[in-house]
Amino acid sequence: MVRPFQFSRLPKIFFKNGAIAELPSMIERFGKRIVLVTGKYSFLQSGKSEKLLSGFQVKGIIYRIISIPGEPSPEIIDNTVRNLQGERIDVIIGIGGGSVLDAGKAISAMMNRPESVTEFLEGVGLREHPGTKVPYIAIPTTSGTGSEATKNAVISEIGKNGFKKSLRHDNFVPDIALVDPELTLPCPPDITAASGMDCFTQLTEAYLSGNSSEYSDALALTGLREIKTSLLRCYTTGDDIVARSGMSFAALTSGICLANAGLGAVHGFASSIGGMFNIPHGLICGTLMASANEINVRELRRTKVNPVALKKYANLGELFLDEKGRTDDYLIDGFIQFLYKLTDELNLPGFKRYGIEEKDLELICKNTDIKNNPVKLDAEDLAKILLKRL
Ligand SMILES: [Fe+2]
Repeated sequence: MVRPFQFSRLPKIFFKNGAIAELPSMIERFGKRIVLVTGKYSFLQSGKSEKLLSGFQVKGIIYRIISIPGEPSPEIIDNTVRNLQGERIDVIIGIGGGSVLDAGKAISAMMNRPESVTEFLEGVGLREHPGTKVPYIAIPTTSGTGSEATKNAVISEIGKNGFKKSLRHDNFVPDIALVDPELTLPCPPDITAASGMDCFTQLTEAYLSGNSSEYSDALALTGLREIKTSLLRCYTTGDDIVARSGMSFAALTSGICLANAGLGAVHGFASSIGGMFNIPHGLICGTLMASANEINVRELRRTKVNPVALKKYANLGELFLDEKGRTDDYLIDGFIQFLYKLTDELNLPGFKRYGIEEKDLELICKNTDIKNNPVKLDAEDLAKILLKRL
């Protein structure tokens, strides 16, 4: 029998090599006045930008550019919104990595609102956002967070009492996700590896989540097939457009899956560690992927509380190992070994390099929420996951 489920709205998705050329025409249905949100190493410095900006001029589109230097903080969002106050803006366009897309999403949601974004952040503020926003177009230039398809924007305040929390509403799913794999070609290997592992983690955690559905499972497996064929290829051969296209698809799909199924322990850590230390989100995910799944499997086998999740781990083993006729236990163990091997192949560093020490683990574990993980983990289990990757 089909399990009961809900599935959120999707953006209008345009997925095509070279799709960026169609942006000026897409904008016209919203109006003529736009804000372009970009990153520090901006798309606007690339060769493709001149063509795009002259396309805006031809169409009479008036644009303003806002550059977001890193992961968006409440201060950056509040200041940007204040600076735009009183201006008529027909559509906001985020073009960049996950941080830029989240920043654009948050700015579109906070336009015309007097409050600080902090007041609406989950677990930080006390107010419910009504879901009002300026239309938003998300254009990823990395393959990772899938923010182009999600209903949340992650906002960070990094420090001892820092946080990494979401501004979330069904209406915040972008109106358009323009996915042009060619835009990811210049992405350097370290960012390709980290963002790719973020995407891999999101697909895996959504697939294993107790909140998954027939729809999200089918999509997650489709995305994971692309991870298998494309992730390492993108890392070693950045100009392989077939592999880049596979990862763009996987990232978009991971966003759809996480918005509908939730995430597990690795993303719990990404939130707690990411609030306390300045470490890129994808790197936290990639570094912890193998050890977190190893402990999940150990606890699933010991407690026997969730045979469905163990079966799913065996399915992942079958997918990534390409071996037929093996037992479930063989496939599960093989999947965990595959993850450790991939961690080495992608040169993902341990946490010591970022200043995390053993004495920090207790507080990290205390701040880690793993609500959609396939099995309960106690503080000792969580510490073990981290210790393996210090
Ligand atoms: Fe993520």
